[in-house]
Amino acid sequence: MVKVGLLGLGTVGSGVYNIIINKRDETSRKLGEEIKIQKILVKNVEKRRKYEIDKSLIAKNFEEIINDPEIQIVVELIGGETPAYDYIKRAIQNHKNIVTANKLVIAKHGKEILKLAQDYNVKIYYEGSVAGGIPVIKTLREALVANTIDRVYGILNGTTNYILTQMSEKNMGFEEALKEAQKLGYAESDPYFDISGLDSAYKISILSHLAYETFIDVDSLYVEGIDKISKEDIGIADELGYVIKLLAIGKRYSNDSLDIRVHPTFVPKTHPLSKISGVYNVVQIHGDAVGDVMLYGQGAGEMPTASAVVADIVEVAKSIKYQIKSDNFIHEVNGQNLMNIDEIENSFYIRLRVNDKPGVFAKIATAFGDNKVSIASVIQKHRLTPVVPIFLLTHPVAERYMKKAVETLKTLEDVIEINNIIRVEGF
Ligand code: NDP
Ligand code: HSE
Repeated sequence: MVKVGLLGLGTVGSGVYNIIINKRDETSRKLGEEIKIQKILVKNVEKRRKYEIDKSLIAKNFEEIINDPEIQIVVELIGGETPAYDYIKRAIQNHKNIVTANKLVIAKHGKEILKLAQDYNVKIYYEGSVAGGIPVIKTLREALVANTIDRVYGILNGTTNYILTQMSEKNMGFEEALKEAQKLGYAESDPYFDISGLDSAYKISILSHLAYETFIDVDSLYVEGIDKISKEDIGIADELGYVIKLLAIGKRYSNDSLDIRVHPTFVPKTHPLSKISGVYNVVQIHGDAVGDVMLYGQGAGEMPTASAVVADIVEVAKSIKYQIKSDNFIHEVNGQNLMNIDEIENSFYIRLRVNDKPGVFAKIATAFGDNKVSIASVIQKHRLTPVVPIFLLTHPVAERYMKKAVETLKTLEDVIEINNIIRVEGF
């Protein structure tokens, strides 16, 4: 019997509890060993739980779990940095194997934690930390190991994809859609992490580490969230043949420079990523041997995430049972440079409000042209007031030129406001 200490019994913890209890026979059959939840740590012992819990399993404190010699796997599902980061390290130092879905801790402290686990000869698995139920970490670590990878990108946050889908398909407001995502258990306990793009940044840095064999300094990444996306942007994108998605992009170029970033993106309606809606996530990987691989599934929620976490528990239990030694995938290739966003070339969509007067378009075109930005198309809507919204698409240009053009635009008297700038992915 493999005994587990469970930290956290919220959305994901409940799902893990549910699967381990209700699929005991099936899991035992597949593993050849029973998995037993020995103790559970929660914050509020009085809270009503989704499933009937054997109260005797509730631990008094964290020490009770790490000091239990029978517990071999600690499953961390508390989330956030504190106390999860400290608990993971202390559990490793007490010779416990770790399973976690905590992308923040793995992205920010992965190098230290994975090395610590290596030193203590324990395993650390974190499949649930990226894209919920999609087995992308296992795919990168195992199934695609023969490949040199140069692209891994996709939609890695269920909450924001759900919000954008509800806004575009059901005409729902941002706040209402966020509330629904929270009710469905998709959002982080502080949804700022979803909305700001940080959650996606943690995930793409984890995938980039696995794909490019280097630890990524997540604080150096360019990260932009969906808080500025309006229904107007979504409507114009639709008219122009695009869908707005929060993309997490990780590319490696032939000179070994890494282009890793997160931002809302105009995705052409002809591209498969545009069709991914609701809580679904997608990861596209390109390897030199395999070509393109696309993984699709629910990126958040109780049961999809629990599916990934329980798979990790079974994997660790197997390695305990058969005494399999495996590394924790701490590979580091030196000489890979993170590119600055200013160097990256994209087309851009710009929404601005200008005075509706003769000659204004000419001034705008000059501001772009003088800064090496070429305009691909312009839309002007209704003439209800002296101030009109206009929407522009540019041809691909390095971001630094676009920034200069925007600075010039801001100096023009007839440009009232620059409302939004969104990158257009060419793929
Ligand atoms: P929840 O907020 O639903 O649950 C957190 C759990 O941790 C609760 O049971 C809470 O206790 C417990 N907890 C919080 N603080 C402490 C503490 N100091 N000591 C002990 N227990 C504590 O989070 P989720 O289940 O949604 O997320 C868990 C992890 O999984 C996070 O890292 C998250 O990023 C990740 N994840 C979540 C997904 C999702 O769809 N929700 C998908 C993929 C990953 P109590 O119940 O008493 O308040
Ligand atoms: N809050 C995250 C999301 C949970 O919405 O994708 C899954 O990691």
